[in-house]
Amino acid sequence: MSQEKDYSRYFTAPDLKQAKKRGKESIQVLQFNEIPPEMQQVGVGQKYMIQTYGCQMNEHDSETMAGILEQMGYEETTETSEADVILLNTCAIRENAEDKVFGGLGRLKALKLEKPNLVLGVCGCMSQEESVVNRILKSYQHVDMIFGTHNIHRLPHLLQNALYSKEMVIEVWSKEGDVIENLPKKRSDGLRAWVNIMYGCDKFCTYCIVPYTRGKERSRRPEDVLQEIRDLARLGYKEVTLLGQNVNAYGKDFEDMEYRFGDLMDDVRKIGIPRVRFTTSHPRDFDDHLVEVLGKGGNLVEHIHLPVQSGSSEVLKLMARKYDRERYLELVGKLKKAVPNVVLTTDIIVGFPGETDEQFEETLSLVKEVEYDSAFTFIYSPREGTPAAKMQDDVPMEVKKERLQRLNDALNEISLRKNEALRGQVVEVLVEGESKKNAEVLSGRTRTNKLVHFRGSKDLIGKMVQVKIEAPQTWILKGVLVDEEQSATPVA
Ligand code: SAH
Ligand code: SF4
Ligand code: F3S
Repeated sequence: MSQEKDYSRYFTAPDLKQAKKRGKESIQVLQFNEIPPEMQQVGVGQKYMIQTYGCQMNEHDSETMAGILEQMGYEETTETSEADVILLNTCAIRENAEDKVFGGLGRLKALKLEKPNLVLGVCGCMSQEESVVNRILKSYQHVDMIFGTHNIHRLPHLLQNALYSKEMVIEVWSKEGDVIENLPKKRSDGLRAWVNIMYGCDKFCTYCIVPYTRGKERSRRPEDVLQEIRDLARLGYKEVTLLGQNVNAYGKDFEDMEYRFGDLMDDVRKIGIPRVRFTTSHPRDFDDHLVEVLGKGGNLVEHIHLPVQSGSSEVLKLMARKYDRERYLELVGKLKKAVPNVVLTTDIIVGFPGETDEQFEETLSLVKEVEYDSAFTFIYSPREGTPAAKMQDDVPMEVKKERLQRLNDALNEISLRKNEALRGQVVEVLVEGESKKNAEVLSGRTRTNKLVHFRGSKDLIGKMVQVKIEAPQTWILKGVLVDEEQSATPVA
């Protein structure tokens, strides 16, 4: 990593038009070098706090930033009042996500007045938006530092500059992006780990801001991904979740080999880690080889998150999802056939501009046909700079809310019915900890990511156990422990 001191770089504002460009340049894999010795002492005796909003990608980026800050000597705190550095790792996906961040920033103003040496930083997807940076410059002058999703590795330099500068330090790169290896990470959990397999998105669904905030699709080299997973297995991790905005596009950017997501999963399958998940899967790039590999089971769990967004082919076309209802259902059919007892979950947007009652009914009917075990459902939120934000929208908010309610009711009914079918069955549970509400009760998840509550000794935390389901509910399966031995998870 270059370490030249070029202070003109500390005011680089985002540019959405630039961020949208996709060129032909090859993807560069860069190595993060150790933090320079003079920076390893910067944070000694000081504390940091990171507030994370948004998706798993952001959660994992926060783990990287925590890793970097700890290499600079900082210690973590969960008390806002104790922190010397506070970073808000933000999400731009919907307006309410952004409102939460502005609310949080407003609340931190008093603390900054009390503690002028506090460094307050804004990073993540919102930083990549011009309108957000302008709003911070205008109304949130107590922010010290803004950086984006492409230059997390520059945190030591940016932080050092913010500590000594009276001006707000802004460094946001609106570029397509590189792959940076060897970044430090402080994983928040010793059981389950996120592993990036690719970055960015080239799908440009018309409602979505992510391709502008995260750059182009670029894959990590398989040897780097596989090595990271082997290391996690050696450290005793029980589960990895492979991350990408569109994991099914993995490897499309390799110029020197034909190696795609199905190939990667087939290799991950051979690693001795009990559970492997992945998110998120775009139906368009889901090929037959991947279906076949997932059918082999073993540590590849039988849960697939397959966002559909809408059940209407017309709406899907306006969303530029590049598949229609029939193709989606065909893929679901293949998965149900190839992966025994597969659990499917999804994301759905209601109230896309101009969505008619009939088109919404098609979403309801698709939900009933697929029988999702659960779903994330959203009311469409216009994002500045995206094509859908310019589409005419005559659907009143009241109607959108009603549709969301009807959709959630239908989904909950299916969830309960599917969970009810597990009554009396014994399931494998990875025990995560005590339940949030009752310390007497342990909480864990099935291979299909369902939450299970049961009574048992705290020694079981971190282990695989067998639980008999006795009282299934919509969101939780309540059961009793049947076997205290760590189960032998089949690994191919
Ligand atoms: N890459 C993932 C999605 C990441 S965003 C995929 O393509 O599946 C997570 C979810 O947020 C999306 O699936 C979509 O349902 C929702 N979403 C994205 N943009 C939105 C918007 N402008 N309004 C409402 N929901 C949105
Ligand atoms: Fe957004 Fe579509 Fe990319 Fe998912 S695939 S991140 S919804 S543009
Ligand atoms: Fe949000 Fe960025 Fe993730 S917009 S959903 S944090 S990729």
